[in-house]
Amino acid sequence: MIDIRISSCNKNYGSLRVLKDINLEIERGEFIVLLGPSGCGKSTLLHIVAGLDRLSSGAIEIGGRDVTDVEPKDRDIAMVFQSYALYPTMSVRSNMEFGLRMRGKPMAEIRPLVEEKARMLHIDHLLDRRPSQLSGGQRQRVAIGRALVRDPKVFLFDEPLSNLDAKLRASMRTEIKKLHQSLGTTAIYVTHDQLEAMTLATRMVVMKAGEIQQVGKPEEVYHRPVNLFVADFLGNPGMNFMKGHLRLDGNRVSADVGAATIPLDGYAFDEKPTDGQAVVVGLRPESVQPATGGEPFSLTLKPTLIEHTGSDNLVVLAMGSEEIVGKFPSDMLPKLGEPVTVGFDLSRLSVFDATTERRI
Ligand SMILES: Nc1ncnc2c1ncn2[C@@H]1O[C@H](COP(=O)(O)OP(=O)(O)OP(=O)(O)O)[C@@H](O)[C@H]1O
Ligand SMILES: [Mg+2]
Repeated sequence: MIDIRISSCNKNYGSLRVLKDINLEIERGEFIVLLGPSGCGKSTLLHIVAGLDRLSSGAIEIGGRDVTDVEPKDRDIAMVFQSYALYPTMSVRSNMEFGLRMRGKPMAEIRPLVEEKARMLHIDHLLDRRPSQLSGGQRQRVAIGRALVRDPKVFLFDEPLSNLDAKLRASMRTEIKKLHQSLGTTAIYVTHDQLEAMTLATRMVVMKAGEIQQVGKPEEVYHRPVNLFVADFLGNPGMNFMKGHLRLDGNRVSADVGAATIPLDGYAFDEKPTDGQAVVVGLRPESVQPATGGEPFSLTLKPTLIEHTGSDNLVVLAMGSEEIVGKFPSDMLPKLGEPVTVGFDLSRLSVFDATTERRI
């Protein structure tokens, strides 16, 4: 069942086209994460769904109802802003009660609801304080609590955890995941944090300059990016890119990337490959591992730099005139300049046309 339908949405600020023909259907209960570089239009899209910004053209439906011309307060959505947007002169309790009071809900029902959500978010001991007497993380939880008590049809989150330290952020991420699992409310969530995106999303939407590049399950977008932009945007450290040309020889296909010839017999091409086609072969660092002997494809390369991350070692390897990065287990520490044999996980390759930058 479609809960949110965004149809042919365009948003212009003067001559600046901020959203270009956005089409997206979101099922009830989905947790959609919007991802993309700064300025690509993520907040604008959220504001349009919320009704805080007007569309230049297109339509928005929520729960089967066309809400394109409906006021934000009548859309049955709750939004958590990056800036919290709490009322500074009100206590935490009043902040959380406010939306419900405005809707005319009786105080006898509001009180227990606010207290229940406050307990859930571990802010029940802060209910009588003002926002200025709270830490950033506590404020963020009040903002989330204020949205939760509303029990809306749709949650919209704009980088709700961006001001938290790494540890609090990780625990809030888990809390949001649990909340979504128990409430099942449809959500659209904007973040810059890829771990947040990968762990929270039922589907991810990657945007660039006002356009949707790819929509899919996190693992699908991560392992089968539709173009070089998506491949490059996701993953840390980023995907290795090896430039070269395809060789077609009877039924056999390979990519000549200068320092090596990578067999592509097992690669599922989306488009028919042609002999001599200029390509970029992509392989993520975790798919470049110390060889154990059983690999169908391995290369012996010289490490030029090693970075310890704690959980693993990132090993930069010279490959012809280029370099690739392998992610080695922390107990596998090669020596600089001493050749090491690495296996390539060929099942994880991505091949892109060098000109169109599309996956082939
Ligand atoms: N009121 C406005 N007037 C003119 N241009 C605007 C306005 N609001 C946003 N923009 C422009 O629209 C584009 C998209 O902005 P938006 O805030 O949606 O980006 P974003 O993807 O949320 O970025 P960030 O990750 O930095 O929050 C940007 O180029 C921005 O400068
Ligand atoms: Mg934004």
